[in-house]
Amino acid sequence: MTLDELYKSSVEKLKNIENIEIDVRIILKKVLSFSETDFLINKNRELSSHEVQTIGSMIDKREKGIPVQYIIGEWDFYGTTFKVNDSVLIPRPETEILCEYVINYLRNKNEPVIADLCTGSGCIGITVKKYIGDATVVMVEKSPEAAEVCLENIKSILGNDKVFFINEDVFLSERFKQLPQFDVIVSNPPYIKSSEISSLQSEVLFEPEIALDGGDDGLDFYRLFAEKWTEHLKPDGMFAFECGEDQANDIKSILEEKNFDVYIKNDYNNIERFVIGKRR
Ligand SMILES: C[S@@+](CC[C@H](N)C(=O)[O-])C[C@H]1O[C@@H](n2cnc3c(N)ncnc32)[C@H](O)[C@@H]1O
Repeated sequence: MTLDELYKSSVEKLKNIENIEIDVRIILKKVLSFSETDFLINKNRELSSHEVQTIGSMIDKREKGIPVQYIIGEWDFYGTTFKVNDSVLIPRPETEILCEYVINYLRNKNEPVIADLCTGSGCIGITVKKYIGDATVVMVEKSPEAAEVCLENIKSILGNDKVFFINEDVFLSERFKQLPQFDVIVSNPPYIKSSEISSLQSEVLFEPEIALDGGDDGLDFYRLFAEKWTEHLKPDGMFAFECGEDQANDIKSILEEKNFDVYIKNDYNNIERFVIGKRR
């Protein structure tokens, strides 16, 4: 069977899934270690039976609704490939905007210290550290399974220089007393309302519930931060958070009550997606 024949039969098999051509190409390119150009110029290449079988079993998984990122086990974020599996949230493009804010803010700071709370795959903390080489980064994640993924990403992307990983619940804030004060605390925490989880798009339901569930109104993390974590910010420190649609103004109010100046920024779809603040 040629590459083109397998591509066409796979697209046909998955035709009920929107934009499936992209996913099929991603799977084929991953298995064959092909670039986009390789893919285009090798359409008549005969595939080995092992390649056909491997691709076939990945296509079967996609048919079951499993996101392509989990099937290939990796995803690109801010120009770096991160290992992912179903223990971690798939890094989203809008979270790259959050990284961009933090990286730009830190460019002129000397040896800044940063915390990435609820780090998951580590995509935020690792990205910031990659671009701000003299930074110290502390990453906190509760799930032991996500911790494994994050540690692998730290090792393969960064090495261990000035990167600290804590496998702990951010809500157990008394355990963090000995942490230093931070120039930036950044987070993309779970922020979906508990009651809305079951009605999410079916592919999102393959992602871990702990990565999604933000409590009754989705705001548990932000309240916790206001109560327990602000003391970990330096006097001129900044927090930068991602949040759900329609949550930014509530989060702004929570943090204004704690004497922060708070700004809301939009994502690519012009949705209020980020809440950023500094002490007054
Ligand atoms: C929305 S995901 C974001 C992951 C990653 N920061 C990203 O942007 O892709 C939230 C992460 O927070 C973790 N988490 C949830 N509750 C936590 C808690 N109480 N303490 C620490 N981590 C928590 C989840 O396991 C998940 O990895």
